[in-house]
Formats: sequence, structure tokens, C-alpha cells
Amino acid sequence: MIARSVIDEIHRINIADIISPHVNLMRKGRATVGLCPFHSEKTPSFNVREDKGFFNCFGCGEKGDAITFIMKRRTLNYADAVTYICEQYNIELKYDSKDTPQKPVKDMKALHEMFAERAKISLFKPEGIAALEYLKSRGFEENIIKRFDLGWAPPDISITPFENSFTGAVIAGSGIFSKYRKCLFANRILFPIHSATGACIGFSGRTMDPAERSKYINSPETSLFSKRHELYNLHNAKEIMKKDKSCFIVEGYFDAIRMVAAGFPQTVAIMGTAFTKEQVAQLKRYSAEEYNLILDGDEAGIKAMMKSRDIAIECDIYPNVIFLPAGEDPDTFLKNNGKEGFDKILETRQDLLIHTIKNERGKGTDNNKRFNRLNDIKSILEKIKNPYRQEYYLKETASLFEVSEQTLSDDVSSGKPKNAVIRYAKKTGNINFMVEKDFITYLFLLPEDMTEHLTADLPQECFDDETFRLIYKKILEFFAQGDNIIELRNDTEVGETIADMLINKKDTPDCYSAAIDCKTKLMINFCDKERYKIADQITSTGESGNLEAYMEYLRNINKHQKKTYTGED
Ligand code: GTP
Ligand code: MN
Repeated sequence: MIARSVIDEIHRINIADIISPHVNLMRKGRATVGLCPFHSEKTPSFNVREDKGFFNCFGCGEKGDAITFIMKRRTLNYADAVTYICEQYNIELKYDSKDTPQKPVKDMKALHEMFAERAKISLFKPEGIAALEYLKSRGFEENIIKRFDLGWAPPDISITPFENSFTGAVIAGSGIFSKYRKCLFANRILFPIHSATGACIGFSGRTMDPAERSKYINSPETSLFSKRHELYNLHNAKEIMKKDKSCFIVEGYFDAIRMVAAGFPQTVAIMGTAFTKEQVAQLKRYSAEEYNLILDGDEAGIKAMMKSRDIAIECDIYPNVIFLPAGEDPDTFLKNNGKEGFDKILETRQDLLIHTIKNERGKGTDNNKRFNRLNDIKSILEKIKNPYRQEYYLKETASLFEVSEQTLSDDVSSGKPKNAVIRYAKKTGNINFMVEKDFITYLFLLPEDMTEHLTADLPQECFDDETFRLIYKKILEFFAQGDNIIELRNDTEVGETIADMLINKKDTPDCYSAAIDCKTKLMINFCDKERYKIADQITSTGESGNLEAYMEYLRNINKHQKKTYTGED
């Protein structure tokens, strides 16, 4: 509630002063008269009584005090009209209760729309030529620029047109202009940010000046906008998300725009480096089932992944993660490699938690390290809410870390409330173990020219299991010497295992396709291990080591996924 003293102060102002900017008033005896602003007339019937502080129109019947006049004249509610007058007459707004004043939300939205429109027009005028050229030079075409309502806020963008349409309170509450009437986004490319329902509720402005300290400036927290609650492009993406049940989550505005332009409309941007619980809640509302988090392959991306992982567990979602080569974001990657290149990298996507478990296991190079890393994973497993999910990750952890599922499960449940005891199914084996085993088996079943193709570019390090790695090493040696690998059944070290595998082999109708699938999995698994080695190396020595080789490897992965054997590489 606006304090009574404020209303009293308004009533002390001569009402004619408040009305005169809107009506040309003339003195006529005790009254002051003019042409009524509320109906059309040629002779004045609009009367203002300065002594009594009210107005009255004999023609249309409108009457009231100064506040009523402003409400009617400017179509404002009571609070806004009071705020408007206070603003004009430098009266301090005071409230009775401690409650923050109710912001006139509708008008704030209208102000955002008007500002977005103004900036959009500027972008396509001569004043916005540099900005438009900048966007085009980054490879964004006019249709996509328009689709995202991008704009340009000129350096001298004026507050005046907005003041003519909105109250001081609305303008101040929007954060678009400062107290000194300067525009927060002046001299920046403007990205309007929309709510899930499509209302413009905030902005981000990007500078084109590399020397500028803040690359992006966002709207402050307002009654409409709270960055942690919003996802850029959600209003456009939500319908497709619902339909496809999947979404892509990227970091930046340009990333989202590029993704949409490249044919991935179900993309949202978190507008920063790690997503928030509130953003996840938004995504869940639009019923995505598959969440694909696309991150930089560099250190920052790995850090972001860890933060996002904690949030995901807390929110009971289980995203996939896709790492781009270091230094690339979806925008640059798509620009340089096109949709085709991107589709390939999408195939390296992996369950975020499986990725974490494998990665931590990869760091456990001796027993001390292994058990310490296991402890870290245990604290993650304890937090998983869904019992089936928990069981699934627990199985993976137990087999990768070479501990019994029972012991791990007991240990994990001991960290949970007593009534949440979960029973786990019997050990079914490590997924990677099975992949390695199947792949080796197929090598013995397929004709030799196919197996040589299958082993190309697949280093022994791809095998986690010692025995399989040894068998594979021997297979490669046999190939190198041009010998038939079936002879390996007589090998003293591995012969028995091979014979056993061949006797117990599954019936697979298309061994070659199955082998290709196994190979892909092995390569992806290997990539994960490599990536973390490189990341660790960058962190500890500042050097990127065999990053180039790794990237080359990553680029090659897809080459090996041809489903039919063509006889060529
Ligand atoms: P471009 O360089 O224009 O391609 O932007 P980007 O999205 O690649 O930027 P970057 O990877 O540096 O940052 C990712 C996201 O973090 C951006 O899209 C912004 O949402 C946010 N961000 C980056 N820099 C700033 C900043 O200076 N201030 C604020 N508030 N946010 C930033
Ligand atoms: Mn970028």
C-alpha cells in the first residue's frame, strides 16, 4: 500500500499543473476550463477546480482528482498513476507495509516488447549496419537473425520514447535503463530472452568490442526475469521437445541460434556454464526424456559437466554428455564442420554418470587411487534417487572397480536412511567386459579381410580387460606377420580362453554389424579415457600433449561405423 502521506502530498500539488501538460487550460472565473481529453468536443466543457483539487466534464461526465485524471489519461492503475506523479514531481514513494510494491507486470512485458522492437528496427537501419555485418560475418543469415528477434541498441539509444509510454516505476523496474537514464545494453547486439510462454522478459547484450570488459550483459533480476529460472529459446523449443522427447542443452545464445539454424530446433541455452535446478524443472515441465548436454572439451567444459552432474542427480534426471573438441562450442563446431560433422560427434554421446564412473576408474591407476576414486563415486551413488537407476550405476561401478556388487551396495545403502534399503539383482557383468569379449569373438568368426578392417585404428589400449588386451595384441601381431589368427587357439597363454569363447559364442545373425557396433563402443570408451588424461595433463602441466592425436582419433571414429563392408577403408 502506498503511504497516505504520499497521496496527501500529491493532493497539495495544484491539479491544474498536473492536468495542463495534457489539456490546454484557460481561466474562466473561479474555474479553469479546456477541451475535454476524454471525449470529442469543440467548445470547452472540461472544468478544473484548483481550490478543490478535482476536475469535472459537463459533457461526458468524467470527474475525479489528479490521480484519477492520470489513471484515465494514461490508462494506468492507481499505483502506477501515483508512481507516475511522484516521478514527475520528485515525491519520494513510500509504502505502508514492508511488502515490496506490486509491480505492474503487464506493463513491464509491454516495455520489454517495445524495447526489443526498437532494437530490432535499429539493426536493419543504417545505424545498425556494423552490428548486422558482424552477425553476418559470423555466418548468421537474415532469416535466422529475424527469427530470434536479434536487435541493436545504438550507443545513444534514448529513454524518452519509453518514458512517454511507461511509468518511471515500470522503466526503473525493468533494469533496461539506469537511474541516470543510460541504457544498460547501449552499443550492444541485443538478444531478447523469452519466458516459456513466449513473453519477452529480459535481454542479453553482446559487445562487438573485444576490449570491452563484459562480453555479455544480462538484464538484472526483475519481477519478470530471473536468469536461473529461464532457458534461452525454450519457448520455441518446447513443442518439438514434447514431440521428440529430447532436447539439446548448450551454453550460449549463439550456440542455440546456430543449433536451430543447423536443424536442431529442440535446443535451449543455459546462458552460462552450469545449469540450475530451476532450469531443469522447466525442462521437465516440457516432458523431455532425453537430455543431451553439449559442452566444451576443455577444462571449463569438464568443470561445467561436474556442476551439471550434481544438479542432474539432485533433480533425478540422467543426461547424456557430448564433448566437443577443446576450444569449440556448438556455434563454432557447426560453422566449421556442418551438420554432418555434428551428427558424428553426437554419436559419441554418453550417459553422464557412466562417463563419470569410467573416468574416475581411469584415474585409479594403483590400488590406493582406485579405492579413493571408488569412494568418490560412492558418494555420488548415494545421492541417486531412483532405485533402478542407482542399481544400474552401482553394477557398473562394481564391475569396473573390481569390487563385489554386494559389498558396494551394502556400503552405499548404509549411507542412506534405513527404510530405503534397496535389493540388487545378481551380478550380470561389466558392460565393457561383454563388449570386449564379443568383439574378440567376432574377430575369430569373420573372414580375415573383414577382421583386418575392423582392427584398423583400434589400439590395444581400448581393452580394459587384461586377457582380452593380450589376445588382441597377439591378433595384431598375427596380422602383421600375415598369419591366420585361428592358430591362436594353440597359444599357451590365451589358447584356452579363445577356445572357450568360441564354444560359448552367442548366435549373431550379422556378425559384421555387431562387430562394428562393438568397435564403436570400444573407441568411445577409449576416447573418454584419453580425454581425461589430456585434461589432467593440461591442468597439471599446462600442455596439451597428444591433444592433436586425440582429436584426429575422434574425427576418425565415424569412419569405422560403416554398416556394410565395402572392402575399402
Ligand atoms: P560468443 O563469443 O559470442 O560466441 O559467445 P559464447 O556464448 O561462446 O560465450 P562464452 O563461451 O564465453 O560464454 C558462454 C555463455 O556464458 C554466454 O553465452 C553467456 O551466456 C555467458 N557469458 C559469457 N561471458 C559473459 C559475461 O561477460 N557476462 C555474463 N553475464 N555472461 C557471460
Ligand atoms: Mn561462442
